[in-house]
Amino acid sequence: MRPWACPLAAILFLGGAAQLIATYKPHTASDFALRSLKSDDEDVGATNTGALDSAGQSTPMGTDIERPFNYTTLDCSRYEPTFIQIARDLQYSRKLGISLNSTLYMSARFGSVHMRGLTVGFFGGTAYLLTPTDFRNLSHHAPLHLAYMRMMLHLESSFGAALPDVAFVLTTSDTPRYVSPLLVNSTSPLSELRSYEPGFVPGPYPVCGIGKSDFFPDFLLVPNFHFHMKLYDQTFLAAIPEFNKMSWRDRKPVLFGRFSRYRTNRVSEDIFTYKAGPEGRRICYKGNRTCPFRDFFINKIVPKDPARMDVSFIGRVSMLRHSHYKYLAHLDGQGISSRLEQLLSLGSLVFKEASGYYAYYYRSLLQHRVSLVEFWRDEEVDGPEDVLRELDWAEANDEEAARVAAEGQRIAATYLTGNGRTCYWYRLMHGLRSVLSYTPLLSQWPEAQPLRLVVEQQLLATPGGKEVYDAPWAP
Ligand SMILES: *[C@@H]1O[C@H](CO)[C@@H](O)[C@H](O)[C@H]1NC(C)=O
Ligand SMILES: *[C@@H]1O[C@H](CO)[C@@H](O)[C@H](O)[C@H]1NC(C)=O
Ligand SMILES: *[C@@H]1O[C@H](CO)[C@@H](O)[C@H](O)[C@H]1NC(C)=O
Ligand SMILES: *[C@@H]1O[C@H](CO)[C@@H](O)[C@H](O)[C@H]1NC(C)=O
Ligand SMILES: *[C@@H]1O[C@H](CO)[C@@H](O)[C@H](O)[C@H]1NC(C)=O
Repeated sequence: MRPWACPLAAILFLGGAAQLIATYKPHTASDFALRSLKSDDEDVGATNTGALDSAGQSTPMGTDIERPFNYTTLDCSRYEPTFIQIARDLQYSRKLGISLNSTLYMSARFGSVHMRGLTVGFFGGTAYLLTPTDFRNLSHHAPLHLAYMRMMLHLESSFGAALPDVAFVLTTSDTPRYVSPLLVNSTSPLSELRSYEPGFVPGPYPVCGIGKSDFFPDFLLVPNFHFHMKLYDQTFLAAIPEFNKMSWRDRKPVLFGRFSRYRTNRVSEDIFTYKAGPEGRRICYKGNRTCPFRDFFINKIVPKDPARMDVSFIGRVSMLRHSHYKYLAHLDGQGISSRLEQLLSLGSLVFKEASGYYAYYYRSLLQHRVSLVEFWRDEEVDGPEDVLRELDWAEANDEEAARVAAEGQRIAATYLTGNGRTCYWYRLMHGLRSVLSYTPLLSQWPEAQPLRLVVEQQLLATPGGKEVYDAPWAP
């Protein structure tokens, strides 16, 4: 283990995060990927008590947060179990406070087209784009940004003046692109910001995105843009009765999966996302920044038992056809992959690659052999080959496996709904407001424009913008 990791781990421990990061050993970090959060976390995004925050400002009472008409209409209290991740993501910001300077610094550096980010906020209940964007330069990220802009507008229309004033950076990159240097020891030369240019402002920073590892403790997880673009509730949740027409008994006892050939990206020093093959065999290259986990599993592990595993890169197969198999493989993409929430809806048993990367709901809702099966849990013993042992277990305990599969589907249907995700955003905004060490004002953002104007006018006036604008979207 590298010497720098000790200060990081030590700092992580300060926050009472011991139940998730119970060991310094990198190879076991993934064991903790899916453990449920304990309720002894600080109550940040959950119900704020109206105490003074780190800046001494009073923050809204929990009952005020829950008062808006749509909080009840959307049944937000039902999603309470997911809000615990908000508390976790904010725990370092809560201790240290997020400053205006760190927000401006992050916005200038990462909240722009170049880093797949956009700087947005709410003021007086209206959604704003706080610094200009450039839809053309965003290329394939433009539709992803639009999906999030529409989500901000949906929050605006759902909660209006009940939204707190906040400013933050929202990114659509698969993995976080910065390391909060204050938290990982700003004097360490190993942090991703290799040198500290004049004007450097330490974190914590208000940055939101779809996935992270514990190497990015202040990163704020938000629901994936794919939920909106793939019309998740309609395409997957509403189709559950259709998926369930294929009974458990009739599903083939084979581990099935079809994947695009993505390689996983990681920060070299991130102990939480490092993984190896059997007996610690090295898989990653380019200074451990690129890891072809999918290739390794498909080319080296699947051939060991092709009768029980049909996982490959070849051929697209509809989700309905996936439901013809009892066991469905999930492998990380460049980072987390939105395929997981799709697979969970099918009623088959999901076999998820253990990973240091997680999305907003993994740790609060998913558990090994409760709602899915995790494999590739310990690379020093047999690495990904433990998938064979998990298959043995599933075959020997068919009723239990069926229960776990049904629980995964229930979790998706209960918590991963559009309403649940809207409520999550709303609670995150209040949690974020409660950790700001300054008073956010629209005047701090001279280039701000109402987001509605940006979407309805600027995007449409951009060459190619109409096509992006017309893409389907749902909350
Ligand atoms: C914020 O940054 C500016 C210059 O970038 C600096 O002059 C000012 O002192 C900083 N404010 C705080 C509170 O650190
Ligand atoms: C955006 O695109 C224009 C024209 O293609 C180019 O000149 C400019 O440098 C790009 N800006 C960024 C930030 O990539
Ligand atoms: C509730 O949300 C819907 C959908 O966004 C919106 O149209 C409606 O105006 C909201 N109601 C209130 C009272 O805010
Ligand atoms: C930070 O890292 C530097 C260089 O690796 C080390 O000398 C220093 O002791 C570390 N600081 C803390 C607080 O751990
Ligand atoms: C990659 O990570 C492994 C395991 O931590 C380490 O032994 C190896 O030296 C690393 N390689 C590089 C180039 O950093």
